[in-house]
Amino acid sequence: MYTEQVMDHFAHPRNVGEIPDADGIGEVGNAVCGDIMKMYIKVDNDVITDVKFKTYGCGSAIATSSIATEMIKGHTIEEALKLSNKAVVEALGGLPAHKIHCSVLAEQSIKAAIADYYKRQGIDPTPIVGEIPECEGGHCHA
Ligand code: FES
Repeated sequence: MYTEQVMDHFAHPRNVGEIPDADGIGEVGNAVCGDIMKMYIKVDNDVITDVKFKTYGCGSAIATSSIATEMIKGHTIEEALKLSNKAVVEALGGLPAHKIHCSVLAEQSIKAAIADYYKRQGIDPTPIVGEIPECEGGHCHA
């Protein structure tokens, strides 16, 4: 039911942890399952030089975030913003239909971290990053 890539990233997640002096931190959650994703980025000259994530989430959330960090590390913010959850799922060789929502956490937490990065520069992130439903339904911290 899960592909080899999913199992690999779940068993050996890449880029797990925190960046103490991160340039941007994004936290998003899914109100339905209660899972939370936190993403840390370091940015130099518009390039994401380092990225780490921490999650209280399911295996699919771990696998999608792990591969998503690999797909944005060393890339520009512009490229990272284009990374859709669909592309992440494709890179994993697919996810069961009822697990697709888990990959959304990966995409949204990256966008939230980039939004935080812009806010710290005094730049309004909304026109660049768009609206991020931080906690769908607003219950994820409950
Ligand atoms: Fe909540 Fe996967 S079940 S993120």
